[in-house]
Amino acid sequence: SDSGIAVTDDVVIVGGGLAGLFCALKMAPRPVTLITGARLGEGAASAWAQGGIAAAVGPGDTPDKHAQDTIVAGDGIVDARIARLMTGAGPERIRDLIDYGVPFDRDNAGNPILSREAAHGERRIVRVRGDLAGQEMMAALIRAVRETPSIRVIENYSVEDLTRDGGRVAGLIAIATDADAGPPEIRLAARAVVLATGGVGALYAVTTNPLQARGQGVAIAARAGALIADTEFVQFHPTAMDVGQDPAPLATEALRGEGASLINAAGARFLAGVHPDAELAPRDIVARAVFAEVQAGRGAFLDCRSAIGERFEDAFPNVYKACTAAGIDPARAPIPIAAAAHYHMGGVLTDANGRTSIDGLWACGEAASTGAHGANRLASNSLLEAVVFAARVAEDIRAIYPAPQPMPPPEVVSDAEGPGLFLESAAIARLRRRMSDDVGVVRDHDGLVAALGDIADLERQGGPSYGFRNMITTARLIAGAALLRTESRGAHFRSDFPDADPAQAKRSIFTLRSVETV
Ligand code: SIN
Repeated sequence: SDSGIAVTDDVVIVGGGLAGLFCALKMAPRPVTLITGARLGEGAASAWAQGGIAAAVGPGDTPDKHAQDTIVAGDGIVDARIARLMTGAGPERIRDLIDYGVPFDRDNAGNPILSREAAHGERRIVRVRGDLAGQEMMAALIRAVRETPSIRVIENYSVEDLTRDGGRVAGLIAIATDADAGPPEIRLAARAVVLATGGVGALYAVTTNPLQARGQGVAIAARAGALIADTEFVQFHPTAMDVGQDPAPLATEALRGEGASLINAAGARFLAGVHPDAELAPRDIVARAVFAEVQAGRGAFLDCRSAIGERFEDAFPNVYKACTAAGIDPARAPIPIAAAAHYHMGGVLTDANGRTSIDGLWACGEAASTGAHGANRLASNSLLEAVVFAARVAEDIRAIYPAPQPMPPPEVVSDAEGPGLFLESAAIARLRRRMSDDVGVVRDHDGLVAALGDIADLERQGGPSYGFRNMITTARLIAGAALLRTESRGAHFRSDFPDADPAQAKRSIFTLRSVETV
């Protein structure tokens, strides 16, 4: 809002998803500015989360068991210390969320109702009204943020670059995404910038993410010289609904947790022979099987008829609504599905406190790469990671800068008509198609080289908007890292190197410059 940019605070949080909101709340009563590219609550993937948030709160479960499942899923490159930090803090952060007003589902005795998801050894997904976890958590946190006077919210400004003062981050440049937001381009000064900009799904033609998930955080951090990690690891969700919508609506994995099966057009259960856990095999395995079935022309469907049937509408209202809108009654017909870009394990390299490699810059949530997820994130660990590390970032910044320092008012960089964010354009469509075709579920050397060539070509032509430059940078970080990892591990599958190579069982840590030369 106009009044929102009259003054700024010395801590600026970029992003209005779960990580950004939680960080701002944890910083209170210390003043912070939270800047978001859309209206608060819009454009954030967190609001679309269906499964819930994983935490060891059930009988017989422990943070250690949860960490163990996380480490196994991450396929050899999880930072075990970080995973333990995350699972250990889970129960406490769930209590925070309850305090902020999140109405988790409970049984008559008041205990949380827990769902099961793939590769979790226990029932440990805390949920809200069936599959409405993301929506309900975001609604509660947005309410809490609006009621917290120390949080100043600037809506409809997309952060396109960081500014620096010598080696440290000194603020940011943001452009208006709405003609009514205020000046087209502004510069904010800050002592601490927290990137909570979310993931990269919208770089792909088929995604479950909002179209705002363009990887801008990782792009701007990389351009500022920050170390980047694990960008080749993009998780594909096996059961996005293939109903001609962009983004593709998600059909939560909890459906398979309840017994739904995966079948092809001939009605055959195609996972039975692939993995002993069949439909509940690790997500990357299920995603590749779905992708292969679709590529082979046999089609892939999620069959909920006998496992869920008439309970569907009550148990999974969110998915039910998406099905109905697409003309499908999931109690009576299988749901057509496709594998879709869903979550980025990689991002800006951070330590246990969310610090990046450059002074003045922190990152949390999907934009960060903490090492907790390794090569393959365990279902419902994303919301957990977001709140755990957002809280740690808040604590770290408060310790370093206990006293707020007044900042100069925002500077209007340009009064000219802003370039705007044209999310639909031929260049963006070409980039997204290329990423899905050659930097997607299955990759190989030739495809990745072709993709990098196309990315360079698109960069030379110049994009339709400011935001496009960040899309190009992040696409290059993903494709370049995928080319350099000559093995298959977790979500990164190379058909020319189909096996894991023990010598490559480590995280990729690099700078933008190093992938620009591959
Ligand atoms: C789902 O509900 O299937 C998604 C859960 C996740 O991605 O963690």
